[in-house]
Amino acid sequence: MTHGPDDEIPLPGGNVGGAVRVGDTVRRPTGPWTPAVHELLDFLAAAGLPRIPRVLGIDEQGREILTFLPGRVLDIGREALSDAQLRSAMRWLRDYHAVVAGFPRESRRWRFVERALRPGEIVCHHDSAMYNMAFDGDDLAGVFDWDVAGPGIPLDDVAIFAWNTAVLFPDADAAQVAQVLRTIADGYGDLDPHAVLDHVAVRMTDAADRIAAAQAAGDPGMLRLGTVGEPAATRARLVVLTGRLTELHAALDVG
Ligand SMILES: Nc1ncnc2c1ncn2[C@@H]1O[C@H](COP(=O)(O)OP(=O)(O)O)[C@@H](O)[C@H]1O
Ligand SMILES: [Mg+2]
Repeated sequence: MTHGPDDEIPLPGGNVGGAVRVGDTVRRPTGPWTPAVHELLDFLAAAGLPRIPRVLGIDEQGREILTFLPGRVLDIGREALSDAQLRSAMRWLRDYHAVVAGFPRESRRWRFVERALRPGEIVCHHDSAMYNMAFDGDDLAGVFDWDVAGPGIPLDDVAIFAWNTAVLFPDADAAQVAQVLRTIADGYGDLDPHAVLDHVAVRMTDAADRIAAAQAAGDPGMLRLGTVGEPAATRARLVVLTGRLTELHAALDVG
């Protein structure tokens, strides 16, 4: 089958959205949070942050129009990020956090909360995991899926990244988990890998609670996540992680 320039090509990978590609653009469903997310993306672009989608507008079906970012999304179940890819992603995350610190602190309607930033908070991406990143070889090429951006602390974004690499798999070898956590902390800079590990459990407990609350409130995207077993799957993995914390902290002390 061949595709014309205006054909809609479904973009696989997401369990939330229904993103499609049309030519050099991506169309995605919108919600009450979209104005705040577009303000954020416009702010980041104006500040010169690379590797983010640009907002082109809203199409006739009410979907947002974003630029299509190049690169390859790795298969989270079967592919691991290389050390260079981990470092590239964490360097970008640190740059993003530095730039977003200048975003207005007044209340915005985000997907999960409507409030101002508190002291110590920034606007986090909040789903900065490998399934929302594309790579070009060793280099991070793009970060998409900004729908759940909102107030948080920088460690929240590092933790969700770590959860989806090092500690996602309950049977992962402790020494390997420790090595990935060290690379993540070092790649971001000025971070203690022990603090990253401890924050993963905190952050993912919050994530499971937020998904459950949004499902109870009837959020269609979050209800779709329910059909793939969330937040129960996250909670089950958290039980395993919590049981391994002592072992993983010890492994971090060895290297
Ligand atoms: N701006 C973009 N450029 C390139 N690919 C994109 C873009 N936005 C989304 N995608 C692709 O579509 C997939 C699903 O989109 P995403 O925005 O992550 O939605 P979901 O909410 O469904 O996770 C992504 O994993 C990515 O492969
Ligand atoms: Mg996604």
